[in-house]
Amino acid sequence: NQTKTLNEGTREQWGSRIAFILAAAGSAVGLGNIWRFPYVVGTNGGAAFVIVYLVIIFLIGYPMMITEMSLGQKTHKNAIGAFRSLAPNSPWWITGALGVLAGFVILSFYSVVAGWAMSYFFKTISGALGAGTDYVGTFVGHITNPVATVLWHAVFMVITLAVIAAGVVKGIERTVKILMPALFVLLLALVFRSMTLPGAGAGIAFYLTPDFSELSGQSILGAVGQAFFTLSLGMGCMITYGSYLSDKEEIADNAAWVVGLDTAIALMAGFAIFPAVFALGFDPASGAGLAFMTLPGVFAAMPGGTIFGAAFFLLLTVAALTSAISLLEVVVAWVVDEKGWDRKKASLIIGGLIFAVGIPATISMNEVDFQMFGMPFFDVLDIFQESILLPLGGLLTAVFAGHVYTAKKLKEDANKNRGKIFIGGWFDVLIKYLVPIGIAVVMVVGWYDVFFK
Ligand code: PFF
Ligand code: NA
Repeated sequence: NQTKTLNEGTREQWGSRIAFILAAAGSAVGLGNIWRFPYVVGTNGGAAFVIVYLVIIFLIGYPMMITEMSLGQKTHKNAIGAFRSLAPNSPWWITGALGVLAGFVILSFYSVVAGWAMSYFFKTISGALGAGTDYVGTFVGHITNPVATVLWHAVFMVITLAVIAAGVVKGIERTVKILMPALFVLLLALVFRSMTLPGAGAGIAFYLTPDFSELSGQSILGAVGQAFFTLSLGMGCMITYGSYLSDKEEIADNAAWVVGLDTAIALMAGFAIFPAVFALGFDPASGAGLAFMTLPGVFAAMPGGTIFGAAFFLLLTVAALTSAISLLEVVVAWVVDEKGWDRKKASLIIGGLIFAVGIPATISMNEVDFQMFGMPFFDVLDIFQESILLPLGGLLTAVFAGHVYTAKKLKEDANKNRGKIFIGGWFDVLIKYLVPIGIAVVMVVGWYDVFFK
């Protein structure tokens, strides 16, 4: 049926509005919320960073979410195809291509971290992380053990590609409908446990009392990068998910739900982690290892710790899976749409390639092999996506939507089915000026801090 508006009817569609919200929230809520957000807050001084982050979510994240979902729904195309169909014979497709590259880059190290989480789930259950364990030594020992980490990375990639091979409804939709509610319940239990520990107050204070002297150009770029990463923006992921959304669905309310759920879960993860970290006398600024080095100690020291510890690492794995499938879908949707590949074959080949790129990222954690620019290849991939790929992709998408496609047309598309929120003149101001200029300034200042200081 090629007669419908721009390709609707030629591709799969979400079964309901709830399915779309859960899938998009499943993409958004991930390691970014539970693993990355707390340690980025911890290394950037706490509450002041949280405030900057929230302002960015509101002023940049929300309009970008509307934009990407609407471009997807309008074109019913993958990240590259969406730009191609709205601006044929122009180089704007490159914005989508950067997104496909980002999907590839992010998933290759994301799956490695998800693999750590899976193995820590089993370590917790087996009692290998009981009181008195050398947690730092155990974590370093684990991530520098190439056999174990590559195997877990493989297991996680196989699960991810199996979901994507099964398709949008039978794979993605079915998975998120089961896992997202489970995730929410697990996290609530953890927040309750952490906040009721004796001495939790110091962690809550660190998390809620701002000290703006802690902020630098680099930390503000970090907040922008974290905002894009956590909301799955700047790389065509929400374009791709929006492309499976029926023309009858509205945009602004759905976008608000996804941004709201992601933000709520990131804030909750902070309440699960900081009170416990402080209550048990650990350092909140310990970086990427925060969840893996400090939390097992926290769990071992608390009553019922084995159950809460296992729940935490299960939560991390589940959250990672519903995001990993969206990262893979960005790349797979492109080759299925544009290159005519069979979905199963595409999932297998691309999943396999991403697995391969993840291998040097994994092995680079031993601080000897696969170093680049004097850092582990793993860090190179993360800094590349956080400081360059996602902000640049977001900047280009905003300029395209605001000035090339035009904010006026985008608003017409997104307002055509009215929900509670009306996309008014505020959207023009944000998407045409504030978002692109804001990102550009922060990128330049942040790059200076990251690369020249
Ligand atoms: N939003 C995910 C998280 O917070 O863990 C990560 C992510 C998924 C980033 C999908 C980008 C993306 F397209
Ligand atoms: Na997130």
